[in-house]
Amino acid sequence: MGCWHMVLLGLLVLSLLSSCRCLVLSAPDVLARMPVPRSYIATAVFQDKLFVIGGWNGTARHDAVFVFDGSSWTGAPSMNTKRDDFYAAVFQDKLFVLGGMAWSLEGMGKVIGEVEVYDGTHWSPAPSLAVARSGHGAAVFQNKLFVVGGFDNDKELLNSVEVFDGGSWSTGPGLPRARMGMGVAVFQEKLFAIGGNIGDLASDTVDVFDGTSWTSMPSMPTARHYLAAAVFHAKLFAIGGGIGFNDGSALDSVEVFDGSSWSRAAPLATPRDCEGAVVFEGRLLAIGGNSRPSLQNPAAITLDSLEVVAA
Ligand SMILES: *[C@@H]1O[C@H](CO)[C@@H](O)[C@H](O)[C@H]1NC(C)=O
Repeated sequence: MGCWHMVLLGLLVLSLLSSCRCLVLSAPDVLARMPVPRSYIATAVFQDKLFVIGGWNGTARHDAVFVFDGSSWTGAPSMNTKRDDFYAAVFQDKLFVLGGMAWSLEGMGKVIGEVEVYDGTHWSPAPSLAVARSGHGAAVFQNKLFVVGGFDNDKELLNSVEVFDGGSWSTGPGLPRARMGMGVAVFQEKLFAIGGNIGDLASDTVDVFDGTSWTSMPSMPTARHYLAAAVFHAKLFAIGGGIGFNDGSALDSVEVFDGSSWSRAAPLATPRDCEGAVVFEGRLLAIGGNSRPSLQNPAAITLDSLEVVAA
């Protein structure tokens, strides 16, 4: 009998230990980990799967595409161009990647206007942007694909807007102020450009396009650039981002706009900038990006984690 008690106690201890270990292994903030760390990525939901495209891993920019089905990762064909600091959008049942930063012959960054399109099987070239741009945003608005702002090869900030109708690009009404590294999303039937850099400084301002002209909306509580923006449960989310390039840490703050005012939501478990965000399987996710441990130690750590921002 004593022996059985010892065995039962042993089993109990073992099961407690293993459940503890499980908790430690899967921190509650981490929904999943990508096969590799990535920042300055483009993310999109395409054909019911989460796509993580290209980006920077801390030392190099990439053309690889990773696809998450909610439980495991597979690869999709790589883009024809290694690029980061770009945007993706699903338009007319195809996945578009737009502009960004590629390698130049000198091995440095070169801002590009090339557009590629993925049909679920392979990538092919689509008409290029008129203005090569990186740090821009894009969204489908009023059945057209809009590309907004960014910066060019002279590091000049852009206010220009380009519009794709499926056949060719045309020039749309320009942003009221040039900006880069902003969040772009469609919310309450308007195209939003949120935060980013205006001049050298991260901005809290919000410009919106109603299809005719640009106006302003209430500013976010927190100025931020290289944030991610997404619409979830009828609210517009501004997620993470940063305040400076080499003089600030990444933000954990999440702020939501209901159409009239901003409020704070639960912060990220991991501060991150240059991340992606999508709504996938009923949850708002933040994907990869850079963590910057502190103001004193701002060197970026590229993240592989996906976390749930809101559910
Ligand atoms: C980033 O990618 C490059 C090119 O594939 C690779 O050589 C390097 O080891 C990667 N760095 C990290 C930190 O994963």
